[in-house]
Amino acid sequence: MTRRSLLRSIGVAGGAGAMFESMRALGLVASPQALAVPDFREPRAGDLAAANRGKTVVILGAGVAGLTAAYELGKAGYRCVVLEAKDRVGGRVWTVRSGTTETDLDGHTQTARFSKEPGSYLNAGAARIPQSHITLDYCRELGVPLEPLLAHNANNLIHGEGSDAQQYRTVKADYQGYVSELLSKAVDQGALDAELTADDKEALLTFLSYYGDIGDKNSGFAYTGSSRRGYEVEPGAADQEGVPLGPPPSLSEVLSSRLGRYLSFESRYTHAMTLLQPVGGMDAITNALHEAAKRTGAEVVTGAPVSEVRNTDAGVDVVYRGPGGKDTRISGDFCVATLPPNVMAKIPTNLDSRVTSALRFPEAFSAGKIGLEYDRRWWELDERIYGGITMTDLDVLNIWYPSHGFHTDRGVVVGYYTEGPYSEAYSRLTPVERERRALAQGAKIHGEKYRQGVQASFSVSWERTPHIEGGWVHWPSRDSGEYDLLNKPAGNVYFAGDWLSHFIAWQAGAIDSARYVVTALHDRVRNS
Ligand code: ALA
Repeated sequence: MTRRSLLRSIGVAGGAGAMFESMRALGLVASPQALAVPDFREPRAGDLAAANRGKTVVILGAGVAGLTAAYELGKAGYRCVVLEAKDRVGGRVWTVRSGTTETDLDGHTQTARFSKEPGSYLNAGAARIPQSHITLDYCRELGVPLEPLLAHNANNLIHGEGSDAQQYRTVKADYQGYVSELLSKAVDQGALDAELTADDKEALLTFLSYYGDIGDKNSGFAYTGSSRRGYEVEPGAADQEGVPLGPPPSLSEVLSSRLGRYLSFESRYTHAMTLLQPVGGMDAITNALHEAAKRTGAEVVTGAPVSEVRNTDAGVDVVYRGPGGKDTRISGDFCVATLPPNVMAKIPTNLDSRVTSALRFPEAFSAGKIGLEYDRRWWELDERIYGGITMTDLDVLNIWYPSHGFHTDRGVVVGYYTEGPYSEAYSRLTPVERERRALAQGAKIHGEKYRQGVQASFSVSWERTPHIEGGWVHWPSRDSGEYDLLNKPAGNVYFAGDWLSHFIAWQAGAIDSARYVVTALHDRVRNS
């Protein structure tokens, strides 16, 4: 009995849950996400009859999707040639370090002047990995060391324009406190009797007393503040019991601050703690994938933009800029195109017009970041902020403090991570203007020290980055045919990328999509 048929029998007898547990026990799945392509099994040379071996696959783009496709196909002996337009691999997995240089589509050239310390980097694109994502399975397989990426930190700040920033813990305590008070009153007064049994009411009131740290029935369930808000004077030895921060603002003030909306971030499926990052920069993943793909025999050519893709009777023909800038033609059996759809749409092809217009359907979305290297970790030294993200309704949206290198001399703060219209506004500026604006905004939260001790900065606008031209895409609809069409091969051309997954703007989406295409392509070759 093969492993596959054994699993199928377990599946028939015990349902998908039993099959999943058995697969886990057999080491076939490492995480639930590994089931995103239920039938994914890494291709092996032994899968193919002699006549079907050694097919050539031309892969466009050496980002996560392209490198994953090359690595997985390489395991079965496909000859993969990866054509990458940029001078580096990784795509939107891009770690900016001392000496990194980039010229954007407006002609602005930046060279990162960060210090050479290993922790002085900016993950300009991908920067966090949830525990559920298949990305971690590849980190394990490829030996990429990981560390926590602290997204939520009670000491981080929440800030609304026109008022002082407050600690995350304080905002949370006030919202939980007042919501608990109100709900407790409503329950106690019988307003929810139609919904709740007597037992439910008792259980809910007990929960709310813990959730909100509120008074008992005799006090009218009043929220009058809590040590959860933080301390004006820290507790200490002997008689120093500390002075809690307080009193809390009124219910109306808390509600009108509208800061509570930031509290939901930590509950998002993809952003809940614990998040992870590779030690030393996100490009550890794409570098490891690159090396692994090369070990399977893949050839990865950088600085090689593609200018034509054609389906032929025998397979595909691809033209790219080869050595010396000369147009170079490569023929293959298949093409896996992992470029962003808006970039792919501009390349001349002989693809069906429905396919080319589908490529124009998803909309490129603006996203950008700035890294600010300081000569002193004032956020740790003065504000006791160790990692995490401050959220604000200023146009910088959030400020990230490094989750690594605590108590070292320098550190790179992400001064903005913007998207959509906020990002477009920064994108229009020169790098110097972006820095100036980011510092002015950050100073509204952290004070004047935010402008002091900045040693270097580097900003990225993804839609102005050559060959990438967007942060990620939005599908106006996934139900109008385009998404399904592009998830199918167009002749001998397959498309892959995070944009063809339900994890847009995540490495996991690129990996899942690449595995989906690898499975489809390999099955086709096996059965041909
Ligand atoms: N994956 C991106 C993020 O976490 C969108 O910000």
